[in-house]
Order: sequence, then C-alpha cells, then structure tokens
Amino acid sequence: MFQTRITEMFGIRYPIICGGMFWVGRAELVAAVANAGGLGFMVGATFGADLDALRAEIRKARDLTDGPIGLNINLFPAVRRQPIEEWVQIAVEEKIPVVETSGRSPEGIVQALHEGGVKIMHKVAGARYARTAERLGCDAVCIVGYECGGSPGVDMVTSLVLVPVCVDAVNIPVVAGGGFADGRGLAAALALGADAVLMGTRFMATQECYGHPAWKEHLIKATELDTAYVMRSMGNATRAARNPLTDKVLEMEARGTTIEELLPLITAHANAAVEEGRLDDTLASMGQAVGLVHDIPTVKELFDRTVEQAMQVRERLDGIIPRSAPD
Ligand SMILES: Cc1cc2nc3c(=O)[nH]c(=O)nc-3n(C[C@H](O)[C@H](O)[C@H](O)COP(=O)(O)O)c2cc1C
Repeated sequence: MFQTRITEMFGIRYPIICGGMFWVGRAELVAAVANAGGLGFMVGATFGADLDALRAEIRKARDLTDGPIGLNINLFPAVRRQPIEEWVQIAVEEKIPVVETSGRSPEGIVQALHEGGVKIMHKVAGARYARTAERLGCDAVCIVGYECGGSPGVDMVTSLVLVPVCVDAVNIPVVAGGGFADGRGLAAALALGADAVLMGTRFMATQECYGHPAWKEHLIKATELDTAYVMRSMGNATRAARNPLTDKVLEMEARGTTIEELLPLITAHANAAVEEGRLDDTLASMGQAVGLVHDIPTVKELFDRTVEQAMQVRERLDGIIPRSAPD
C-alpha cells in the first residue's frame, strides 16, 4: 500500500519512523513502533558506558516484537568520552538492521557498520551534510528542519524548504523530519519527495513512551509557540520546551556567554521533566510539532489514524489536482 524506497530498504509496512530520543525512547516505544509497522530507534547514549544495560534493552525490545529494532548512535561532541566503537560493535553483534547516526560525520564508523551488515541512516540539518553522507556510502539520509525537537542545526531553515532541497541534492532515499505529527504531515513529506516521515515529539506523547505523566500533560497543553531555540551561539543548537531556564540561556547568549558558563546550568537538572514532570529548570527537547499534539494515544492508535488521515489527504487532493492537463 505504502511502497517507497525506505519501506523496501528497511522492510517496514509504513514509511513512518520514530527518531532516536535520548532517555525517553526505550524498548517499549521502539517495539510498539515495530509492531505497528514502522521503525524506531533506541539511543546508545541513554545508557552511556553501561553497555550491558544497552544490550539488555535491545533484548527486551526483541522480546516484545519480531519487527526491526533500530539503534541511534549520537556523534555529537560530548563532555565525556562516548563509547562509539562499542555501540557499533553492539549494533553488529545484536544484528540491528539499521543505525541512525547524528551530530557529526559518521565517516569513522560507516565501514564497520556495513561490514557487519548494518544499514545507516544519517540524520542531518542541511543539504550539504546530506551530500557528505551520500559520498560516505550511507544508505539513507534523514533531513530535519528548524522546527524539530532536539538538534535542528544552525541554519534556521524549515522542513518545507529543506526536504525538497535535500531530495534534489542526493540520490539516496530521503526521510523527512521536523514538524511532522499526523497523516497530513506524512502525505506532505511524501509529496515533497521524501521516502518516509520521521517523528520525535509526536511519539514522545504516546502511552508506550517513557516519561512522567506531568510531562506528557505538558505536551498536550503546549502550543507551537511554547518551544525555545537555544545554544545556537555554541554551534550546538537545541529546540526544547520554553521555560525560565531557556529564557535565561537565550539572555546569556544575547550578551555573549561561554560554554563553561552555560554547561552547569543546562546539565544541572537534566531529565527532570521526563523523570519528575518538573519543567522550570530543565532543558527538555521538544519540537514545534507539539502544537499538533492533543492526546496520548497508543502507538498503534497513532499509526492507524496517521495512515487513515494520509489516505483522506490523497482523496481530497484527487478532487483538487487534475490527473492530466485540461485540453
Ligand atoms: C526528547 C527528544 C530527545 C531526542 N534525542 C535525540 C538523540 O539522542 N539523538 C538524535 O539523533 N536525535 C534526538 N532527537 C531528535 C529526534 O530523533 C527527531 O529527529 C526529532 O524529534 C524530529 O523532529 P520533531 O520533534 O519535530 O518530530 C530527540 C528529540 C526529542 C524530542
């Protein structure tokens, strides 16, 4: 029904992907996405150097689904050394079919992953990085726009422009991310030339996603105006829930600050939103698509309605866009 280069390459029923989400994207979510016919990624960095915990989480997901389980390998600059080689080894040994890389060029790990039979989808926030990913031999690229939760890059170009620019720039399959949350978004991503849609914020607001009820309640109440784009001056921009902390960070950036000054602030209460539902003093990744989130469905319900809505869009367009030019 939905046949694209991505559904074929990743062996999934629907061109719907759940991006890796640090701390919140655990076995239950990734397995639920696989059971619903998509592909989701758990994040190596969530478990840091505790490699046994990562393996255990992968196996837990395997117990919950026969579908594909993806692993995100964050290559973002980090304060502590990240066990990248070990995550690659785990991906290979655990027969992970697809790794999502992000944050920096995956050059150093492409060969090892491919030799181990793992496909690579590299996530980028600009077409020039997509070209690099293609040159390095990545199997697919995911492009995320300025509105996305997590790391939107520094260019401040929205998905509406970035997706078709990227589709024109590379020949490998393109996955569209950033600002997508429903069937209209799925249809739009495919209309822009993408081979699948990737969502993060929308999946965070599901039953199976890890997170405090008060945090999920915030996702329902927040509008598209309730995010903040911070840390651009550090070259490591993040889109997160707007709160007194993000106001302060933006103020500090406007007057000129240093990473040394910012780090203690932004790391002091990491994960407080997700763990405790505490919103005021934490940097909690969240995209503008939160304005399209009005409930906390199961992943299966989310897939069903997304697919249904995409088909309605198609029907609507059938009545608007002629199939052939008028005489
Ligand atoms: C809470 C949260 C945590 C995230 N953590 C990561 C991560 O660790 N690695 C990564 O590559 N992307 C991460 N992302 C980005 C998502 O994978 C995805 O690219 C993004 O959410 C898509 O945009 P959307 O939020 O508009 O759907 C995160 C996003 C959120 C909301």
